[in-house]
Amino acid sequence: MKALITGISGFVAGHLANLLIDKNIEVWGTTRHSSPYLSKESKVSIVKIDLESEEKILSLLNEVEPDYIFHLSGVSNVKYSWENKQETIESNIITTINLFEAVRKSNKVQKMKIISVGSAEEYGKELLGNKLITEYDVINPSSPYGISKATVSLLAKQYYDAYKLNIIHVRPFNHIGPNQKDGFVVIDFAKQIIEIERGLRESTVYTGNLNAYRDFTDVRDIVKAYYLLVSTPMSEYGFNVNVCSGKGVSIKSILEKLANLSRVDIDIMIDPSKFRPLDIPYLVGDNSKLIQLTNWKPSYELEQTLKDILEFLREK
Ligand code: GDD
Repeated sequence: MKALITGISGFVAGHLANLLIDKNIEVWGTTRHSSPYLSKESKVSIVKIDLESEEKILSLLNEVEPDYIFHLSGVSNVKYSWENKQETIESNIITTINLFEAVRKSNKVQKMKIISVGSAEEYGKELLGNKLITEYDVINPSSPYGISKATVSLLAKQYYDAYKLNIIHVRPFNHIGPNQKDGFVVIDFAKQIIEIERGLRESTVYTGNLNAYRDFTDVRDIVKAYYLLVSTPMSEYGFNVNVCSGKGVSIKSILEKLANLSRVDIDIMIDPSKFRPLDIPYLVGDNSKLIQLTNWKPSYELEQTLKDILEFLREK
């Protein structure tokens, strides 16, 4: 079996590649960067292309003939998307069209199962109050990133309806774990705490909005869900599925949990520059469809993941 991962240098892709390699799947990855982080890097065939060229993707697909495609490349940072709207739309939507077009024209189109990676941000500001969001709720994105991923979900459905591409569009909620890039809440807090432990900064942790609620899952459980979805035979494709824990946690309590796991006392200072023009107050998902389809069961408790992140940073 062969898998192609777009955006192999990303945080999620590294964990996914490790899982697939453990399953004896041959892994290919595309990147625009020269030195992707992968702990089993030597076993991944890295192809340096950007996805702005449909022709290049098509020739790669015809060369590799992957059984599975995981489309992970693109902008994934919500705050960054507010500051880089054009780039977010281009890199998340246009590259997806290029990929789907290339798959459609490739020699082994029916062989390929595709995971289109969307986001809980597609649901946006929930109008129905603090309830678990299901795949049947309306999408109402409230960030440039959310709009880009909502468009990707519509494209995924269209390419199934019109061309019968075997696409599943996943909507992961927040995911965290060792080796996450800067700019996401847990790594932003954890890095400051480690710097305080090392005496590199005063005892103050600077934060953005602590009042939001999010649904956190360990990245290692997220990639397990992607693998189960793509490897489970489905009677039809073109549907959306949430990937989440179903549990809401306030950002304030994430900071408190990290503070409890740290070796130092910390103070908290709110930094207005870390706020977004709009921030979804409550984004917690219903995972029953994922469980029904695949029997997925997460292995990591939130506290364990937070511990692993701090340990990973301490050993760096
Ligand atoms: N990044 C960051 N840094 N966020 C902070 C901070 C901070 O210092 N302080 C508070 N927050 C708040 C944000 O305002 C937001 O309410 C919450 O913490 C989570 O922010 P992020 O970790 O940046 O994640 P996100 O919820 O915006 O987006 C993540 O989840 C999506 C799915 O729900 C990302 O992983 C997306 O890629 C993913 O699609």
